[in-house]
Amino acid sequence: MQQRIPPGFIQDLLARADIVEVVGQHVELKKAGSNYKGLCPFHGEKTPSFTVSASKQFYHCFGCGAHGTALGFLMEYAGMGFVDAVKDLAGRYGLSVPEPDLDPQQLRQLQQQRSLHAALVDVLQTADAFYQHRLRHSDRAKNYLIARGLQGQVAKRFGLGYAPDDWQPLAGAFANYNADALVQSGLVVARDAQGDPIEPQAESFAAVQRRYDRLRDRITFPIRNLRGEVIGFGGRVIDQGEPKYLNSPETAVFHKGEELYGLFEARTAIARAGYALVVEGYMDVVALAQFGIEHAVAALGTACTVQQLQKLFRHTAQVVFSFDGDAAGRRAARRAMENALPLLSDTRVVKFLFLPTEHDPDSYVRDKGVDAFEREIARAQPLSEFLFSSLFDGVALATAEGRAQAIHQAGPLFAQITAPALLGQLLGDFARQLDMPVAELRTVLQLSAPARKPLAPAETFGRQSATASMRPRGGRAALRAFAAPPDLLRMVLPMLLAQPALWWDISPAQHAMLAQESSPLQPFVQALEAILEDQPDLSAAALWETLRAAGHAPESVLSQSPDPLELDEATVRQDLFALLLRLERTALLRRQDALVAGGLVDAADRAEYRSLALRLKEIDQARNGLDGR
Ligand code: UTP
Ligand code: MN
Repeated sequence: MQQRIPPGFIQDLLARADIVEVVGQHVELKKAGSNYKGLCPFHGEKTPSFTVSASKQFYHCFGCGAHGTALGFLMEYAGMGFVDAVKDLAGRYGLSVPEPDLDPQQLRQLQQQRSLHAALVDVLQTADAFYQHRLRHSDRAKNYLIARGLQGQVAKRFGLGYAPDDWQPLAGAFANYNADALVQSGLVVARDAQGDPIEPQAESFAAVQRRYDRLRDRITFPIRNLRGEVIGFGGRVIDQGEPKYLNSPETAVFHKGEELYGLFEARTAIARAGYALVVEGYMDVVALAQFGIEHAVAALGTACTVQQLQKLFRHTAQVVFSFDGDAAGRRAARRAMENALPLLSDTRVVKFLFLPTEHDPDSYVRDKGVDAFEREIARAQPLSEFLFSSLFDGVALATAEGRAQAIHQAGPLFAQITAPALLGQLLGDFARQLDMPVAELRTVLQLSAPARKPLAPAETFGRQSATASMRPRGGRAALRAFAAPPDLLRMVLPMLLAQPALWWDISPAQHAMLAQESSPLQPFVQALEAILEDQPDLSAAALWETLRAAGHAPESVLSQSPDPLELDEATVRQDLFALLLRLERTALLRRQDALVAGGLVDAADRAEYRSLALRLKEIDQARNGLDGR
């Protein structure tokens, strides 16, 4: 296992290090404008096309596309592993990396972590008991659960409770409401004199001015780890209100992307059933248990992450996802599929169940009964079927272009599958559907015959990696030759990597457009989003290394020339918004064409056509404005 270096340390390190100094020890650099230039150490060249930017803390070669931070340079140039590169760089700046073989001070730190964990679990369990007790005394909360058809026994099994409608209900549960542990556990929201929140993982709580309970007038769902300890809560509003569910923030004991709601309660049932059912909501888990389906877990409001899946696969070899039948459900399913691909083995099975649009598992099982729900499970699509249906979605297989597009989209997905027999089967099926020999498909997809080794993360989406672009012909180059629609994310991501702050200026409609793009880069965008949500002010270099530490390959996303990391801020911003508007325009025109093709017979179609025309006009005005600058 790779030694885990805290992401915060890497950011500190990058903030301290100077890439010009690091690279300058190996490459002769000359000042050129605001950058430094030299002969690229990664490919033979006579005239310098290797640039180092001090302000951005990146190097970039216009000749071979090599690109990275100071850490990346040490890894590429000196052939160091990530951990060694971190240690080497830290050494130069007098920082010490937390070591696995512990010295007394580190041992003390570890003990501190353990006692913090114990203290937080202790307050969380006290709160849990308090909330459960309050539920028994609240008619309002009990009536809500009764109205939803929930039995007392199941509510008890899952420890459902009620957080009263007050600012500091937990003051009734703790002798010292001001204890730091209440903030650190996420139970209490703390604000400073300016009204800004003080996060649970803050260093000090000296600045706290105001405290109040995070969960107020909500039904509480304790989230337990595999030891059965309460590590966080979900809280649902009673009746109406926003947000519908409020979850614990990230704390020292609660990591949302790694925990599954209900796993502790479900684990023996999962073993018995031989598979785990992954649903979207807290209520789905609880309602299914009431109907005897006790092997369900929920992914806590995000698409199931790789870590969550890994955790599940420690309990069972079969996972069935249940998604709502709407567009959002299909999107979530696609992400879950992409996250599952690298974890597949020849003995693991992943299936997808799509419920009718109007239902989630809770409403379905109540409406149609448990037998009908079990029949749905039995009919769940195997991953292969769902994979092909998403590859062929909206693609005209009868045309050469359509088939080429399907192959193009398949490349990055297939590249993540390391299970040899499964990959062989999938390729066989795919080749048949495309009416193409398997051997040829393998060549085009650049998948070597059976005993292939898994691709390194950087190569997974690596059509643009330096080595790939230098390969003369065939292989990935052939793959690139297929005419496929440009991937929106592939165009947008380089700009966001150059200027993470632009993320916050993208409109909700544009975010939705990005989320709808069916692209192998969706997991990457999700990771980017999660990181930026957590640390909105990250520099480009820190974002880059945080992504890499999370197992992503930002370098594989950079394909454009000139590299946006080298452009000035205003240009990148202008390019990004011009691009988003252009793409929105294309989508609107396509929709208009479809409406016209339908004959514009209904009034609703005509109304939609008109509203599209209005938006198009707005966009054209905005674009003129951008061009004119
Ligand atoms: P849904 O909106 O589908 O809710 O969100 P639900 O589970 O069906 O809830 P009920 O039946 O109305 O009570 C699915 C899951 O997404 C997360 C929660 O984990 C929820 O269970 N979610 C949803 C949030 O975290 N916050 C929200 O505001 C909404
Ligand atoms: Mn529901």
